[in-house]
Amino acid sequence: MNYGPLLFLGVFLTLASSWCGLVLIPQLQLWKSGGLEAVKLEKTGEFYPPMRSGLAEHGREVYRANGCIYCHSQQVRPKGFGGDFLRNWGQRRSVGRDYLRDKPVMLGTMRTGPDLTNISLRQPSASWHMLHLYNPQITSPGSIMPPFRFLFETRKIRRMRSPDALDLKPPFAPPPGYEVVPKPEAQLLVDYLLSLRAVTPLPETE
Ligand code: HEC
Repeated sequence: MNYGPLLFLGVFLTLASSWCGLVLIPQLQLWKSGGLEAVKLEKTGEFYPPMRSGLAEHGREVYRANGCIYCHSQQVRPKGFGGDFLRNWGQRRSVGRDYLRDKPVMLGTMRTGPDLTNISLRQPSASWHMLHLYNPQITSPGSIMPPFRFLFETRKIRRMRSPDALDLKPPFAPPPGYEVVPKPEAQLLVDYLLSLRAVTPLPETE
């Protein structure tokens, strides 16, 4: 018996059903929701999602270049899909509209570290982020996150200490007469982290 047409049909149906599930149905859902655009919030008159500042936008590139995405996700799962709410990672689930301004979107797949969708609410302090990036052991003893020390410069204090210098205590402090200051990349990255929040209620999250 010639199995050719049967085999063809099998392969065709397999591919067609995955195309329907992965391409057609999501497209129909987008189309049904009227396409994805920023929404004007009645209460404040502002648009959501807001534009990121230019600095934060550059910081996103630093985030991307340093592989933060290998350990951190940026997606809060809905109720019933794990404990994201219990972990205090978000007050509502993430929806497509949250990512409108992100190209590329950095959802991430690994959660070696916590989800960062709302990190600016959990850690609103820029100096905390600086210390944590310089050496996670300072703020989070026992952390397995690698230090990003190359985003900082250890230099001799010239006339007076820079106002940006990290407040490092022994055993993390540099030798006497030296200071550790963030390079521009670290500043940009922290601007980006402080721009991360997605709590605005949207029609599709209710
Ligand atoms: C090898 C995995 C790994 C990589 C790569 C990594 N992290 Fe982390 N990160 C962790 C782990 C684990 C924690 C939890 C412990 C801690 O706070 O240090 C964490 C914690 C954090 C936190 C605090 C989260 C909270 O809820 O308090 C921030 C912010 C963060 N990482 C940012 C970054 C940024 C920015 C980068 C890239 C420059 C990065 N991480 C790269 C593993 C990683």
